[in-house]
Amino acid sequence: MRVAIVGASGKLGRYMVGHCLDRGYEVVGLCRGESAGKLASFGDRITVVPGRTDDPQAVARAVRGCDGVLTVLVPWGVRGYATGTARAVLDHAPPAARLVFSCGWHISRDGRDRYPWTFRAQLAVFGLVARLLRIADLRDQEEACRRVFASDARWSVVRGSDLEEGASDGLPVWSRHVGDPVLASNRTKRIDFALFMVSALTDDSLVHEAPAIVGRRTPSALEHAH
Ligand SMILES: NC(=O)c1ccc[n+]([C@@H]2O[C@H](COP(=O)([O-])OP(=O)(O)OC[C@H]3O[C@@H](n4cnc5c(N)ncnc54)[C@H](OP(=O)(O)O)[C@@H]3O)[C@@H](O)[C@H]2O)c1
Repeated sequence: MRVAIVGASGKLGRYMVGHCLDRGYEVVGLCRGESAGKLASFGDRITVVPGRTDDPQAVARAVRGCDGVLTVLVPWGVRGYATGTARAVLDHAPPAARLVFSCGWHISRDGRDRYPWTFRAQLAVFGLVARLLRIADLRDQEEACRRVFASDARWSVVRGSDLEEGASDGLPVWSRHVGDPVLASNRTKRIDFALFMVSALTDDSLVHEAPAIVGRRTPSALEHAH
Protein backbone atom coordinates (compact mmCIF):
# COMPACT_ATOMS: atom_id res chain seq x y z
CA MET A 1 0.00 0.00 0.00
CA ARG A 2 1.34 3.42 -0.95
CA VAL A 3 0.16 6.22 1.37
CA ALA A 4 0.60 9.99 1.08
CA ILE A 5 0.55 12.01 4.30
CA VAL A 6 -0.38 15.63 3.64
CA GLY A 7 0.93 17.64 6.59
CA ALA A 8 3.40 14.94 7.67
CA SER A 9 5.72 17.12 9.79
CA GLY A 10 3.28 18.01 12.61
CA LYS A 11 2.79 15.92 15.72
CA LEU A 12 -0.15 13.98 14.32
CA GLY A 13 1.58 13.61 10.96
CA ARG A 14 4.71 12.09 12.43
CA TYR A 15 2.72 9.59 14.48
CA MET A 16 0.89 8.61 11.29
CA VAL A 17 4.20 8.12 9.48
CA GLY A 18 5.28 5.79 12.28
CA HIS A 19 2.09 3.72 12.19
CA CYS A 20 2.27 3.42 8.39
CA LEU A 21 5.89 2.27 8.48
CA ASP A 22 5.01 -0.25 11.21
CA ARG A 23 2.47 -1.74 8.77
CA GLY A 24 5.01 -1.91 5.96
CA TYR A 25 3.34 0.81 3.89
CA GLU A 26 5.30 2.92 1.43
CA VAL A 27 5.06 6.53 2.68
CA VAL A 28 5.25 9.85 0.85
CA GLY A 29 5.18 12.83 3.23
CA LEU A 30 4.25 16.34 2.11
CA CYS A 31 5.13 19.25 4.37
CA ARG A 32 6.17 22.86 4.24
CA GLY A 33 9.78 23.15 3.08
CA GLU A 34 10.93 24.76 6.33
CA SER A 35 9.52 21.80 8.27
CA ALA A 36 11.13 18.98 6.29
CA GLY A 37 13.87 18.63 8.95
CA LYS A 38 11.21 17.41 11.39
CA LEU A 39 10.99 14.22 9.31
CA ALA A 40 14.77 13.62 9.30
CA SER A 41 14.55 10.86 11.92
CA PHE A 42 12.70 8.67 9.39
CA GLY A 43 15.74 8.87 7.06
CA ASP A 44 15.28 7.17 3.71
CA ARG A 45 12.34 5.08 4.96
CA ILE A 46 9.99 7.74 3.58
CA THR A 47 9.93 10.04 0.56
CA VAL A 48 9.57 13.71 1.49
CA VAL A 49 7.93 16.16 -0.89
CA PRO A 50 8.57 19.73 0.30
CA GLY A 51 5.70 22.13 -0.37
CA ARG A 52 2.69 23.85 1.10
CA THR A 53 -0.21 21.50 1.55
CA ASP A 54 -2.51 23.91 -0.33
CA ASP A 55 -0.18 23.96 -3.35
CA PRO A 56 -1.99 21.88 -6.01
CA GLN A 57 1.24 20.95 -7.81
CA ALA A 58 2.97 19.78 -4.64
CA VAL A 59 -0.11 17.78 -3.62
CA ALA A 60 -0.41 16.25 -7.11
CA ARG A 61 3.20 15.10 -6.87
CA ALA A 62 2.74 13.63 -3.40
CA VAL A 63 -0.50 11.71 -4.06
CA ARG A 64 0.41 10.31 -7.48
CA GLY A 65 -0.13 6.53 -7.50
CA CYS A 66 -1.27 6.42 -3.88
CA ASP A 67 -3.85 3.96 -2.54
CA GLY A 68 -4.54 6.16 0.47
CA VAL A 69 -4.11 9.80 1.48
CA LEU A 70 -4.05 10.97 5.12
CA THR A 71 -4.60 14.74 5.38
CA VAL A 72 -4.16 16.94 8.44
CA LEU A 73 -6.61 19.84 8.21
CA VAL A 74 -5.58 22.78 10.41
CA PRO A 75 -7.18 26.21 10.76
CA TRP A 76 -3.87 28.09 10.98
CA GLY A 77 -3.57 31.40 9.16
CA VAL A 78 -6.39 33.40 7.61
CA ARG A 79 -5.77 32.66 3.96
CA GLY A 80 -7.85 29.55 3.47
CA TYR A 81 -5.03 27.06 4.06
CA ALA A 82 -7.33 24.19 5.12
CA THR A 83 -9.78 24.80 2.28
CA GLY A 84 -6.94 24.95 -0.24
CA THR A 85 -5.48 21.75 1.19
CA ALA A 86 -8.78 19.86 0.98
CA ARG A 87 -9.43 21.13 -2.54
CA ALA A 88 -5.97 20.10 -3.75
CA VAL A 89 -6.31 16.59 -2.27
CA LEU A 90 -9.84 16.10 -3.66
CA ASP A 91 -8.76 17.35 -7.10
CA HIS A 92 -5.57 15.33 -7.42
CA ALA A 93 -5.88 12.07 -5.48
CA PRO A 94 -6.48 9.00 -7.64
CA PRO A 95 -10.27 8.47 -7.87
CA ALA A 96 -10.15 5.07 -6.15
CA ALA A 97 -7.89 6.23 -3.31
CA ARG A 98 -9.09 6.12 0.28
CA LEU A 99 -9.01 9.66 1.70
CA VAL A 100 -8.90 10.26 5.46
CA PHE A 101 -8.96 13.81 6.87
CA SER A 102 -8.38 15.00 10.45
CA CYS A 103 -10.21 17.76 12.28
CA GLY A 104 -11.79 18.41 15.68
CA TRP A 105 -15.16 17.74 17.31
CA HIS A 106 -16.25 21.29 16.45
CA ILE A 107 -16.90 20.20 12.86
CA SER A 108 -20.46 18.92 12.48
CA ARG A 109 -21.53 16.95 9.46
CA ASP A 110 -25.29 17.02 9.99
CA GLY A 111 -25.83 19.58 12.76
CA ARG A 112 -26.95 16.86 15.19
CA ASP A 113 -23.96 17.10 17.53
CA ARG A 114 -24.78 18.30 21.07
CA TYR A 115 -21.85 20.16 22.55
CA PRO A 116 -21.30 20.82 26.27
CA TRP A 117 -21.59 24.56 27.01
CA THR A 118 -17.96 24.60 28.19
CA PHE A 119 -16.86 23.32 24.78
CA ARG A 120 -18.96 25.92 22.98
CA ALA A 121 -17.65 28.72 25.17
CA GLN A 122 -13.99 27.73 24.67
CA LEU A 123 -14.53 27.44 20.94
CA ALA A 124 -16.21 30.84 20.71
CA VAL A 125 -13.41 32.55 22.63
CA PHE A 126 -10.64 30.79 20.71
CA GLY A 127 -12.35 31.43 17.38
CA LEU A 128 -12.79 35.13 18.04
CA VAL A 129 -9.34 35.78 19.50
CA ALA A 130 -7.56 33.73 16.84
CA ARG A 131 -9.40 35.54 14.06
CA LEU A 132 -8.77 38.98 15.53
CA LEU A 133 -5.06 38.19 15.91
CA ARG A 134 -5.08 36.63 12.44
CA ILE A 135 -3.56 33.40 13.85
CA ALA A 136 -6.30 31.02 12.75
CA ASP A 137 -9.78 30.91 11.27
CA LEU A 138 -12.00 28.02 12.31
CA ARG A 139 -14.39 28.86 9.47
CA ASP A 140 -11.66 27.79 7.06
CA GLN A 141 -11.56 24.28 8.56
CA GLU A 142 -15.38 24.18 8.43
CA GLU A 143 -15.37 25.11 4.74
CA ALA A 144 -12.67 22.52 4.05
CA CYS A 145 -14.83 19.81 5.61
CA ARG A 146 -17.96 20.98 3.78
CA ARG A 147 -16.09 20.35 0.54
CA VAL A 148 -15.04 16.90 1.67
CA PHE A 149 -18.58 15.99 2.76
CA ALA A 150 -19.92 17.07 -0.66
CA SER A 151 -17.38 14.99 -2.55
CA ASP A 152 -17.96 11.62 -4.24
CA ALA A 153 -14.49 10.43 -3.22
CA ARG A 154 -14.05 7.60 -0.71
CA TRP A 155 -13.53 9.92 2.28
CA SER A 156 -13.68 9.77 6.06
CA VAL A 157 -13.38 12.83 8.30
CA VAL A 158 -12.01 11.81 11.70
CA ARG A 159 -13.02 14.25 14.44
CA GLY A 160 -10.57 14.29 17.34
CA SER A 161 -11.44 15.14 20.95
CA ASP A 162 -8.98 17.01 23.19
CA LEU A 163 -5.57 15.47 22.67
CA GLU A 164 -2.82 14.47 25.05
CA GLU A 165 0.59 12.90 24.70
CA GLY A 166 1.52 9.54 26.21
CA ALA A 167 1.74 5.85 25.47
CA SER A 168 -0.91 4.24 23.30
CA ASP A 169 -4.15 2.93 24.79
CA GLY A 170 -5.08 1.22 21.51
CA LEU A 171 -7.60 2.07 18.83
CA PRO A 172 -10.03 4.81 20.00
CA VAL A 173 -13.78 4.15 20.00
CA TRP A 174 -16.09 6.37 17.98
CA SER A 175 -19.61 7.61 17.63
CA ARG A 176 -21.53 9.60 15.03
CA HIS A 177 -22.46 12.52 17.25
CA VAL A 178 -20.79 14.55 19.94
CA GLY A 179 -23.14 14.31 22.93
CA ASP A 180 -23.36 10.50 22.69
CA PRO A 181 -22.46 9.17 26.18
CA VAL A 182 -19.50 7.12 25.00
CA LEU A 183 -17.66 10.33 24.04
CA ALA A 184 -18.21 12.22 27.29
CA SER A 185 -14.62 11.94 28.53
CA ASN A 186 -13.41 14.08 25.59
CA ARG A 187 -9.82 12.85 25.64
CA THR A 188 -7.66 10.87 23.23
CA LYS A 189 -3.94 10.18 23.08
CA ARG A 190 -2.52 11.85 19.99
CA ILE A 191 -0.70 8.63 19.04
CA ASP A 192 -4.10 6.86 19.03
CA PHE A 193 -5.77 9.56 16.94
CA ALA A 194 -3.04 8.79 14.39
CA LEU A 195 -3.72 5.06 14.77
CA PHE A 196 -7.42 5.62 14.02
CA MET A 197 -6.55 7.67 10.91
CA VAL A 198 -4.26 4.93 9.60
CA SER A 199 -6.69 2.12 10.47
CA ALA A 200 -9.45 3.97 8.61
CA LEU A 201 -7.50 3.48 5.37
CA THR A 202 -8.49 -0.18 5.37
CA ASP A 203 -11.87 0.10 7.13
CA ASP A 204 -14.55 0.47 4.48
CA SER A 205 -17.25 0.78 7.13
CA LEU A 206 -15.91 4.30 7.74
CA VAL A 207 -16.32 5.47 4.13
CA HIS A 208 -18.54 8.59 4.13
CA GLU A 209 -18.53 8.71 7.92
CA ALA A 210 -17.32 11.52 10.21
CA PRO A 211 -16.48 9.54 13.36
CA ALA A 212 -15.97 11.52 16.58
CA ILE A 213 -13.38 9.61 18.60
CA VAL A 214 -12.41 9.15 22.24
CA GLY A 215 -9.68 7.12 23.96
CA ARG A 216 -10.71 3.50 24.49
CA ARG A 217 -9.54 3.50 28.14
CA THR A 218 -11.32 6.72 29.14
CA PRO A 219 -14.14 6.40 31.72
CA SER A 220 -16.91 7.13 29.19
CA ALA A 221 -15.57 4.58 26.71
CA LEU A 222 -15.14 1.92 29.40
CA GLU A 223 -18.71 2.50 30.58
CA HIS A 224 -20.54 2.81 27.27
CA ALA A 225 -18.54 1.11 24.47
CA HIS A 226 -19.77 -2.36 23.56
N1 LIG B 1 -4.62 20.03 19.39
C1 LIG B 1 -5.76 19.49 19.81
O1 LIG B 1 -6.05 19.41 21.02
C2 LIG B 1 -6.73 18.92 18.81
C3 LIG B 1 -7.99 18.51 19.27
C4 LIG B 1 -8.87 17.92 18.37
C5 LIG B 1 -8.51 17.77 17.04
N2 LIG B 1 -7.28 18.21 16.61
C6 LIG B 1 -6.96 18.03 15.20
O2 LIG B 1 -5.78 17.26 15.14
C7 LIG B 1 -5.06 17.57 13.96
C8 LIG B 1 -3.64 17.84 14.34
O3 LIG B 1 -3.60 18.94 15.23
P1 LIG B 1 -2.45 19.14 16.29
O4 LIG B 1 -2.91 20.26 17.19
O5 LIG B 1 -2.10 17.83 16.90
O6 LIG B 1 -1.26 19.73 15.47
P2 LIG B 1 -0.06 19.05 14.70
O7 LIG B 1 -0.28 17.61 14.53
O8 LIG B 1 1.19 19.47 15.36
O9 LIG B 1 -0.16 19.69 13.26
C9 LIG B 1 -0.06 21.05 13.02
C10 LIG B 1 0.03 21.18 11.50
O10 LIG B 1 -0.21 22.53 11.18
C11 LIG B 1 0.83 23.00 10.35
N3 LIG B 1 0.99 24.43 10.61
C12 LIG B 1 1.38 25.01 11.76
N4 LIG B 1 1.38 26.34 11.62
C13 LIG B 1 0.97 26.58 10.35
C14 LIG B 1 0.75 27.77 9.58
N5 LIG B 1 0.96 28.97 10.09
N6 LIG B 1 0.33 27.63 8.31
C15 LIG B 1 0.11 26.41 7.79
N7 LIG B 1 0.31 25.27 8.46
C16 LIG B 1 0.73 25.35 9.73
C17 LIG B 1 2.03 22.18 10.75
O11 LIG B 1 2.94 22.20 9.72
P3 LIG B 1 4.52 22.43 9.99
O12 LIG B 1 5.05 21.12 10.51
O13 LIG B 1 5.02 22.80 8.66
O14 LIG B 1 4.64 23.54 11.02
C18 LIG B 1 1.39 20.82 10.97
O15 LIG B 1 1.23 20.12 9.76
C19 LIG B 1 -5.80 18.75 13.32
O16 LIG B 1 -6.62 18.28 12.29
C20 LIG B 1 -6.64 19.31 14.46
O17 LIG B 1 -7.82 19.94 13.98
C21 LIG B 1 -6.41 18.78 17.46
